[in-house]
Amino acid sequence: MSQERESKVEPDSGSASKLAVVIMAAGKGTRLKSRRPKVLHEIGGKPLLAHVIAAASQVVAPGDIYAVVGHQAERVKAAVAETGIRFVEQTDQRGTGHAVQCAGNAIAGYENILVLSGDAPLIRPETISGLWRFHQDQQAAMTLVSAEPEDPTGYGRVLHPAPDSHPSDEVGAGAPSRVGASPGTQDAPEVVAVVEQDMLTPEQVSLREANMGMYAFRTAPLLAHLGKLANNNPHGELYLTDMAQVLHDAGERVVAFRTSDPDQLLGANTIAELVALDATLRAATASRLMAAGVTIFRPETCVIDAEVEVAPDTVIEPFVQLLGRTRIGADCLIRSYTVVENCTLGNCVVLRQNCVLTGSTVADGALIGPFAHLRPGCEIGEEVHIGNFVETKKARIGKGSKASHLTYLGDTVVGQRTNIGAGVITCNYDGAHKHLTRIGDGVFVGSDSTLVAPVTVEDRAYIGAGSCITKDVPAGSLAVGRARQIAKEGWADARRARLKAKE
Ligand code: UD1
Ligand code: CA
Repeated sequence: MSQERESKVEPDSGSASKLAVVIMAAGKGTRLKSRRPKVLHEIGGKPLLAHVIAAASQVVAPGDIYAVVGHQAERVKAAVAETGIRFVEQTDQRGTGHAVQCAGNAIAGYENILVLSGDAPLIRPETISGLWRFHQDQQAAMTLVSAEPEDPTGYGRVLHPAPDSHPSDEVGAGAPSRVGASPGTQDAPEVVAVVEQDMLTPEQVSLREANMGMYAFRTAPLLAHLGKLANNNPHGELYLTDMAQVLHDAGERVVAFRTSDPDQLLGANTIAELVALDATLRAATASRLMAAGVTIFRPETCVIDAEVEVAPDTVIEPFVQLLGRTRIGADCLIRSYTVVENCTLGNCVVLRQNCVLTGSTVADGALIGPFAHLRPGCEIGEEVHIGNFVETKKARIGKGSKASHLTYLGDTVVGQRTNIGAGVITCNYDGAHKHLTRIGDGVFVGSDSTLVAPVTVEDRAYIGAGSCITKDVPAGSLAVGRARQIAKEGWADARRARLKAKE
């Protein structure tokens, strides 16, 4: 965007109370047809409102951010409580103008406010601070952000003064003449009105400059005239956008801050729009990672949440999902159809196809999968191998140990260089409580053994295949807990002979 600079807003000294941000987040989101409030729908794995708060927090302190909440207010507040922002209640949602009226007391002590929409999550902090600077430079009472999106249908349209009219002539003039006026001088920032889609005259339908739903106001004129909003529109609501005309009619300066990047102001009014925003955000995340040296094949098939971090030279195959606060080291290979959520992976880790990892850590050089399931609380050590159809839960597995096939390790601590054979199961649950299994260093657990917890297998022990281990196994010993095998010589041949004789 041409009108913005890169640096953050630096409030003047002693002006801590100068600027507040109001985020309108009370609406139901009727067009989403969802029981969940609109601003809690997620893109990039995070609620819409949380994205807007994160951007606003780069510009003002969280204590100067006020979210207007109404529809399912408690749920909305709880979802973003940890951000430290403040809340204002709008019990009946009577429009965006009414939302700001409800924030009247909260903002009265600030000289200026910025108003953002809780449903426009791609907003960048530089744009917020760019608006703030432009608003100050223009010495405006109201500054709105405008753009020319490819299809302006549905947006309010921005009306500028007619080319031959002098701003002072406009003051006090009747509203209909101006709202019905020509598109006006498109390169002047002055604005005389915003007309919502459902109020556009046939001539105005072709207007391309859209109101993007983000504003700056000087608080004194805003509060002085906010009561003039009327609900004489098809929705019977108080439109904040009407403040453009109200303030202009009162002789106040109203201007447009034009952005050439309308995509970041897109709102999610429908599920289709929400999904499109999600795709935009994830494409941006993938681009950020690729720019930092991560190879992502077919990035459009991957689902990577906004806060995921990946170090250079890691390769991500198609159809991978990296979710939540996942951190992945360098030189890893994440193969197709693997889903990693809230995990930390070291360097040179290989996750083969179709693994599911949640809430766990994996150290350098580990090899996981295919088809492995790491449930929350696992700590997989260096160069550990977790093979196919192995499920782990709260399992700490030491360096170089292996569980290569068909195993369940739950509430288990395994030492280093231990081999867990195929089909081994830790029986951690007695029907009422969970118990711990401890397996030492250099242990060999034979295939198809069950370890009934609580139980300890000490270092260098051997467990015979098919054992059911219910007592602790001393270091260096062999434990065999299975029925003795007997062989009845000639039994099978004799039986066949008997059957044949009956034919
Ligand atoms: C609004 C603008 C429109 C602009 C568009 C840009 C109005 C009247 N129109 O339309 O000019 O082009 O944004 O995206 O403002 N909200 C409340 N309380 C309410 C109503 C809404 O807090 O009573 C919140 C909503 O939760 C939402 C935001 O305000 O986060 C915007 O409301 P929405 O209904 O989405 O307005 P648009 O139809 O998008
Ligand atoms: Ca909207």
